[in-house]
Amino acid sequence: MSDQTITSVSRESRVFRPSAEFQRQANLGSLAAYKRLYAESVNAPEKFWGRQAKELLTWRRPFKKALSWKLPHAKWFVGGQLNVAENCVDRHLGTARENKAAIIFEGEPGDIRTLTYKQLHREVCRFANVLTGLGVGKGDRVAIYMPMVPEAAIGMLACARLGAIHTVIFGGFSSEAIKDRVNDCQAKVILTADGGWRRGKVVELKTNVDRAVGFTPSVQHVVVLKRTGNAVTMTEGRDRWWHELVDAAPVEHRAKGFDSENPLFILYTSGSTGKPKGVLHTSGGYLLGTAITTKYVFDLKETDIYFCTADIGWITGHSYVVYGPLANGATILMYEGAPNQPGPDRFWEMIDRHGATIFYTAPTAIRAFMRWGDEHVKKHSLKSLRLLGSVGEPINPEAWMWYHTLIGKKRCPIVDTWWQTETGAIMVSPLPGVTPTKPGSCTLPFFGVVPKVLDEQGREVPRDSGGKLFLKNPWPSMLRTLWGDDDRFKRQYWSELPGYYFAGDGARIDKDGYLWVVGRIDDVLNVSGHRIGTAEVESAMVSHPAVAEAAVVGRPDELKGQALVVFVITKSGVEPTKELREELRAHVAREIGALARPDDVRFAAGLPKTRSGKIMRRILKEIAAGGEIKGDTTTLEDFSVVSALQAQED
Ligand code: WTA
Repeated sequence: MSDQTITSVSRESRVFRPSAEFQRQANLGSLAAYKRLYAESVNAPEKFWGRQAKELLTWRRPFKKALSWKLPHAKWFVGGQLNVAENCVDRHLGTARENKAAIIFEGEPGDIRTLTYKQLHREVCRFANVLTGLGVGKGDRVAIYMPMVPEAAIGMLACARLGAIHTVIFGGFSSEAIKDRVNDCQAKVILTADGGWRRGKVVELKTNVDRAVGFTPSVQHVVVLKRTGNAVTMTEGRDRWWHELVDAAPVEHRAKGFDSENPLFILYTSGSTGKPKGVLHTSGGYLLGTAITTKYVFDLKETDIYFCTADIGWITGHSYVVYGPLANGATILMYEGAPNQPGPDRFWEMIDRHGATIFYTAPTAIRAFMRWGDEHVKKHSLKSLRLLGSVGEPINPEAWMWYHTLIGKKRCPIVDTWWQTETGAIMVSPLPGVTPTKPGSCTLPFFGVVPKVLDEQGREVPRDSGGKLFLKNPWPSMLRTLWGDDDRFKRQYWSELPGYYFAGDGARIDKDGYLWVVGRIDDVLNVSGHRIGTAEVESAMVSHPAVAEAAVVGRPDELKGQALVVFVITKSGVEPTKELREELRAHVAREIGALARPDDVRFAAGLPKTRSGKIMRRILKEIAAGGEIKGDTTTLEDFSVVSALQAQED
């Protein structure tokens, strides 16, 4: 990759210094303190992390060694035992947090429910007993395909309590996606609901599970939460109602301690080739990573009401709706539905109603709010807010300024947090009250994180020029492997440059040492903050009988960040019609989920290829963006293909 392909055009020069008022009350109060701790975390990582692990987590059996590192395999807190659910729930009992709200839930129709830590404990214990009764034990896999309701978190925590491994499948994914994931990890049980509310309609989750489960022989039971009350088919012996099982379950549950490296969950995410990858996270290191970042990046206080809008089906929902906040004894505000139901001010209304103090969302959502109009924001006071966060994709300076002005009223620091499913926890982010911010930059590394921006030969690129983003040292919440495919784990993340973790992003570091992440440089698209592999969409496309060949590229999109454009060659004799175009879009949505529905399907007679037959995506990207073809086209096999594609643009 040459420097020209990763150019960063943004040259944002505004700097926002933390207010003295915020700084005075911050959990980490000065840049000097950050620098001192950061230096310790990279110079003496075992000492630093060992101390943090003792301070922030409760161990059943103390660990002997903080880190054992045999590149690329890390073991953190070796010999230690803990129970993750106990750390998130039980240890707050008998303290002032016992009767504090753990979860304030708001359903899309407006129903509100609060669970205190004591009540959450009771539910997690009962559900752990339910799972035990269904034969779930240490190491077994449980798939969770649920709406954003407290029971989703209860299901996750109950698995953690038993040392079982959960795999949450985003509720917007299709039955095909459920089938692939469940089969890959051989889940024994699926937790689901009759449905969930989304934009006033019921998303029929159980029906989707039914379509998948005929092809997933490992599944013995499906537990169904009654949420929306729509009719569902229950298969005798296999399907059980959540409430019936829970009503019959004892409330006492004695948790065991598990090895620090006991797997906690698998989360599937898109990679540049083939099927989604099962990213595996384990217990002690993951929990420490999420707990410490929640404490410092969100400056968490006992009195905060913390609102993260991510769905539990994504890593942000795992780390910053469930594990990080609960490990800190926080109050989380959880919302089931769409941000514009019943009106475009639903979030602002909720922030005022519950007095939310911290708000964490994605740039794509911010751009949607901007488009919906300032008047919807101005109707609400938002005076409870004190801190804002952003995650999922680069935030454009314009959206940053809008967030800062309209939502934060110029008073709330913004933490732009860069991290990934694989990193488990926030890697690069400002510390509020400490780090001066620049709109669009995720600024400086968190403790223990050593980002490097390198060129093709592994040399550090000069300040302010683009390169590939790598991480140098191991960190506690790093992925341990890809489920069932350690070779792919090594290939994907550790072979780009020996000794370094390759993030798949392009970035630059400016003269102040601030990191600016440009976006993915592999074949992964970031559509509305969700990772979608071009290979997945292509394979869904060619599974349609009318399609001979397909190539998927991203086109810059004002709202979604990137939009999906598919170039399709139909099979001979198939007429490329408008109807077929719509059918193909719907087909991909059925195969993967609505989030992967192509924005644009373009029929083509041929695709630009090299003489060796490789599709030249760079050219397709330029065509999709409507721009001229720049750069070298001499390796192109047949230039007339390009002219034909360009001519076809409407
Ligand atoms: C992108 C989401 C710029 C990046 C937590 C990364 C970001 C991918 C940021 C991971 C940010 C995430 N600035 N880009 N603050 N946060 N990304 O696995 O391309 O869904 O590699 O994890 O999102 O997406 P994932």
